[in-house]
Amino acid sequence: MAASLEGRLSVAMVEVSEGHEHDFVEIAREFSVIMAKKGYGRTDIVRDEAAPLTFYAVRHWASAAAADACQADPDIHTLTVRLDRIARVTHVVNGVRRTRGPAAGVDIVAAARRARENADARFSNFKVGAALETGDGVIITGCNVENATYGLTICAERVAMFKAISEGHRVFTRIAIVADTPAPTPPCGACRQILWEFGGDLEVILANLQAEHSTHWLKTLLPLPFDARLL
Ligand code: THU
Repeated sequence: MAASLEGRLSVAMVEVSEGHEHDFVEIAREFSVIMAKKGYGRTDIVRDEAAPLTFYAVRHWASAAAADACQADPDIHTLTVRLDRIARVTHVVNGVRRTRGPAAGVDIVAAARRARENADARFSNFKVGAALETGDGVIITGCNVENATYGLTICAERVAMFKAISEGHRVFTRIAIVADTPAPTPPCGACRQILWEFGGDLEVILANLQAEHSTHWLKTLLPLPFDARLL
């Protein structure tokens, strides 16, 4: 089959909130119908035997263009909004990412370094840049913007995430964070919460101006998170 030959595959882990399993089954059914009807590809839903409310949605795309068209489709967007209300969706494999391999890491870190140049850090002189990658490979950057009241200062990571959300992005794969420090600058607690709520278990790449320090899963930086599933 063309889809598997081209190897365009996305896997999302869907953790359904208690009491919403039937809603999930209905949303998944509608999703499959749209995928088939519009020629985007097909979806398999696999239940995690060890965790009854966890599912894996495996999408076999007809082509990279079909994956792009699907992500831009307003019907799919409506379904995604419904799904987000009843489940946490974490993208574990993203076969439609445009930049792959070692060069991809260099690009996203370079973007964060460039964004850092725009930081308005007139009170702390501590400039930070961030670059957030969306599920379809778009890079959205941010820098810290400080304020005379200090407390209204906003970090680079949140600027990037809020820019992305305001531009309609809802699926994220990773974020690079850059500061001019010998040791890595990890995201602050407030940013971890925002990144988790909108991006799920992102890959977090920490770097300075010379080198990349380390990569972490957001889940390890924010164990036992609070989010909408608990409301
Ligand atoms: N800052 C960020 O932008 N991101 C971080 O991960 C840590 C801190 C900013 C906030 C403030 O403008 C300056 O760095 C010093 O705290």
